[in-house]
Order: sequence, then structure tokens, then C-alpha cells
Amino acid sequence: MLEDFLAEERRKVEQALEAVLPPEHLWPQELHRAMRYAVLAGGKRLRPILFRWGHALAGGNPEEVTFAACGVELIHTYSLVHDDLPAMDNDTLRRGKPTVHVVFGEALAILAGDALLTEGFRLLATYPQGERWAAGRGEVCRLLAEAVGSRGMVGGQVEDLQAMGKEPDPQRLQRLHLAKTAQFLAACLVAGAVLAGAPAETCNKLHRFGLQLGLAFQIADDLLDVTGCTEELGKTAGKDQIQDKLTYPKVYGLAASWQALQDLTGGLMVEAGELDPTGKLQALVEFVGRRRA
Ligand code: IPE
Ligand code: IPE
Ligand code: MG
Ligand code: MG
Ligand code: MG
Repeated sequence: MLEDFLAEERRKVEQALEAVLPPEHLWPQELHRAMRYAVLAGGKRLRPILFRWGHALAGGNPEEVTFAACGVELIHTYSLVHDDLPAMDNDTLRRGKPTVHVVFGEALAILAGDALLTEGFRLLATYPQGERWAAGRGEVCRLLAEAVGSRGMVGGQVEDLQAMGKEPDPQRLQRLHLAKTAQFLAACLVAGAVLAGAPAETCNKLHRFGLQLGLAFQIADDLLDVTGCTEELGKTAGKDQIQDKLTYPKVYGLAASWQALQDLTGGLMVEAGELDPTGKLQALVEFVGRRRA
């Protein structure tokens, strides 16, 4: 049932992404090709799924927010395209394919990232269409902008680069993981709930849950960089150690990092059961805890 739920969610997101992205024949063709290449290369689609599921948890119909949910996947994909640039992580493989700058050149990769970020917010400002959603759309744009801006993901990316080659520092690591990954994941879950008109108390609960889920997600990412293989990951394994990144394994070692992941997901399973009696949120937690890519 876990696999079915996630596979079905992914299928719906993929279908909507295909529809919302500018077609390749539209000027400027090369830019739209690069944008579609980056987004449609695959990926887990976790952020739009969290968006849809936050909406469902707050009593909404997730089918009504799929286009808006695509907005967060475009924003996420922009962050990956820029993360892979030579000036940042300098990666040549992403989602099992050569990175955007390898295929289209660095300038176009920067611009495709810029366009994906902008287009992502355009979708969030536009969908769902209609006056009754207007207040929710505004709030969603605001909270997502906060999560991915200088105090969130972009700030985390700066910290990530500045912490390279430095002494292991647990507090710095926590701040880095919260900023570069957890805030965005939490905001996706809350954004869906906001569109369903969820009260502040529900949003706060979902936000706390989302932050913990995001931390678990980034611990898993750090672990997979060490223990995973390039083929399965779809990105080059072992990169963090080469670049001496501040990661969970660097600070705590492998065994304690696995334990931290297990502890976090164990607590999240209980909370997910309380937040969502259908078991679907638990399915997402389980996926984050045992993913291999
Ligand atoms: C990778 O994100 C970047 C991190 C925040 C760890 P994902 O692991 O969600 O990447 P895709 O979307 O599945 O490719
Ligand atoms: C990137 O973290 C997080 C982003 C905001 C893109 P990583 O640099 O660890 O992500 P991967 O491992 O390249 O996917
Ligand atoms: Mg990085
Ligand atoms: Mg990277
Ligand atoms: Mg990583």
C-alpha cells in the first residue's frame, strides 16, 4: 500500500509537471529545453507530494492543488541545478543524467535555474485559480519565499559552502540542515494545509513535524552519499567527503548517524499516526527512513 500510494502520487505530479512546463517549441527554445530536461529527468517528487498531502490532511481535496504543488517542484529543481554548478558542488550527474550545465553550458544552467525559480512562484501565485483561493495563495507565496530565501535554503547553501573543510561542529550542522533542507520541506506541508484554510494550531503542528522530517531527510542524504552507489543514487556518490562537507557522518560517524535517523523516524512515525489516521503520512516517513536514492 505504501508503494502504491507513493507511486500514484508521483504519477499525478509527473503528469501535471508535463502540462505546466513551457513547451520546447516555445521561444526561447533552448531555455525551455533545459528547464524541461532538469525537471522531467525524474526525482522523488517529495515536496509536491508533501504539499498535496498537507492539503488533504487539513481536509482539502489534493486534486485541486496539484498545479500549485508543481510550483514547489520547480523551485526545488532550480536549487538542484544551481547546487550542481561548478562554483558550488561541481557535479556532473543528477537524477541519473548529465547535469544541466554539462549538457547546456553554465550560462544556460544559471538562467534555467532562475527561470524555474520564477516560474515556480508564478504557479504558486496563480493556482488554484479563483477568488476563494486568493488569500491562501498569497500566504503560500510568502511562507515559501521565507523558507527558500536568505534565511532558509539559500542561507543554508551559503553555510554549506562556508563550512567546507572546517572543524566538525554539531550546532553548525543542525543550523545548516534546518536551513538548506528542512525549512523548505516543512513549508511544503504547511502550504498545502494553508490552502485548505487550516487553523494556525494545525499549521504549527505540521510545521514542527515537517522540520523533523526534513532533518531526517537530510541525514539520509548525507548517509547515502557515503553508503549509496552512484548508479542507484543517480548522482555521484562519495562527493561530500571529497569536498570535506559538513555532514552527519563527518560530525557523528556512520553508526551514530544511522541511529539518529532511526530515532528521528521512530518519533515521526508516532506523530504521523496521530496527525493522519489514514497511514499515508506514516508511509512518507517510512520512505524517508529507508530510501536508497
Ligand atoms: C536533493 O533532494 C537535495 C536535498 C535537499 C538533499 P532530493 O533527494 O529530494 O532530490 P530529487 O528531487 O529526488 O532528485
Ligand atoms: C543540497 O544539498 C540542498 C539543496 C538546497 C539543493 P546537497 O548538496 O547535499 O544535495 P545533493 O546531495 O547534491 O543532492
Ligand atoms: Mg550542496
Ligand atoms: Mg550537491
Ligand atoms: Mg547531499
